[in-house]
Amino acid sequence: MKIIVTKNYEEMSAEAFRLVKEVVKENPEAVLGLATGSTPLGLYAEMIRDHRENGTSYRRVRTVNLDEYEGLPASDERSYAYFMRHNLFDGLDIELKNTHIEDGTAAAPEAECARYNALLSVLRQDIQVLGIGSNGHIAFNEPGTPFDSVTRVVTLAESTVRDNSRLFDRIEDVPRRAFSMGLRNIMNARRVLLLANGEKKAKAVYGMVRGEVTEQLPASILQRHADCILVCDEAAARLIS
Ligand code: F6R
Repeated sequence: MKIIVTKNYEEMSAEAFRLVKEVVKENPEAVLGLATGSTPLGLYAEMIRDHRENGTSYRRVRTVNLDEYEGLPASDERSYAYFMRHNLFDGLDIELKNTHIEDGTAAAPEAECARYNALLSVLRQDIQVLGIGSNGHIAFNEPGTPFDSVTRVVTLAESTVRDNSRLFDRIEDVPRRAFSMGLRNIMNARRVLLLANGEKKAKAVYGMVRGEVTEQLPASILQRHADCILVCDEAAARLIS
């Protein structure tokens, strides 16, 4: 695993942007694996700024997102489909038909997971952007997730429900279940770019980088990826440096 430690969140986002732009410049039809949450917001703002100022085009880029809450339609402000349009896609020239995410309202969840897994086998991520949960999860692969997991409906850990409740009016409103890419889908990406910032992530980052590879800390599987880059700020890197 290659590790890049930056001074702060802004520099982490700028470094992440540099790596993503490199992929799009090299292949205008690249497949970007994308994440939601607070961590990649700076990266997405940089992509939009660069598109406006320098005309970098995403017209032929394809995207696959990690996860979606069960029960929330794309029109719901708290859904990840809405998050992606609001924080990234609406600011680019990307074609919405080329952006993919699990359908949180699918009437047949198993069929929806099968559809998404089939899609991922065609749209292999050239780069997969990840954040990390304070409990070491990647996507919604919570501690205990088998390393050979693929897209399925999962139950969120209590700590994840608490962490994500900031985006809901009340903790009771946070969906307890979600569709999530599995660890095998993530490991299939050609390159993985994991971003982490802030003191709250320091312990998980330590476990991911220096701990044993264990299903109890799902992100630790990334030690086995041939091309994984961790970009984190000094606060998140505190225990590894
Ligand atoms: C988001 C996702 C999650 C987040 C993680 C960190 O699509 O799959 O694994 O990346 O929970 O969230 P933030 O960035 O909000 O700290």
